[in-house]
Amino acid sequence: MEISQSWPCSVVVVNKAGNINFGFKESGMKKSVLFVCLGNICRSPSAEAVFRAVVKKAGLEQAFDIDSAGTIAVHSGEPADARMQQHALKRGYHLTSISRRIHPAVDFDRFDYIIAMDDQNLRDLQAMARNAGDVKKISKMTDYAKRSNHTSVPDPYYGGAAGFELVLDLLEDACEGLLLHVQNQK
Ligand code: 4NP
Repeated sequence: MEISQSWPCSVVVVNKAGNINFGFKESGMKKSVLFVCLGNICRSPSAEAVFRAVVKKAGLEQAFDIDSAGTIAVHSGEPADARMQQHALKRGYHLTSISRRIHPAVDFDRFDYIIAMDDQNLRDLQAMARNAGDVKKISKMTDYAKRSNHTSVPDPYYGGAAGFELVLDLLEDACEGLLLHVQNQK
């Protein structure tokens, strides 16, 4: 059984395992997160799946709207890269999202957090921002990492197995940090 109750200043969720999560400092409004990479077939679909798992483990599925997108449209309509899917599945993540290009006029309004995988994605997003409010929503995935000093989630597309594993290692670390960050934000 899952019990969820909202107060004006917080959300308390007791999940199936009996864990109590004192949610957000603000109201029970959903938080929305968009993960962005170049093609939306490797890193950002993985970030989406890993963050969904982290949020689910915390009993906070109902508190989040999570999606991913790419800065280019080359792979629009395609499922995640087969190699990325295989590596993710070995860790229990099902990559189900279909690639799409970011739509700035819609996505900057829809999402509270817009998270780039690398510096090029970051620059591209900053160039798409319409105003200072949009810019404030943009950050980089590795900003939330606690266990590694990587400053980006490197593009694995043209490399081998180690690159896909590194993507997942970095995302597992950073997604935990991201949830803590969101929970601590006013
Ligand atoms: P992603 O990886 O940005 O993590 O989805 C890539 C996917 C496709 C290409 C480059 C990177 N590409 O050049 O087609």
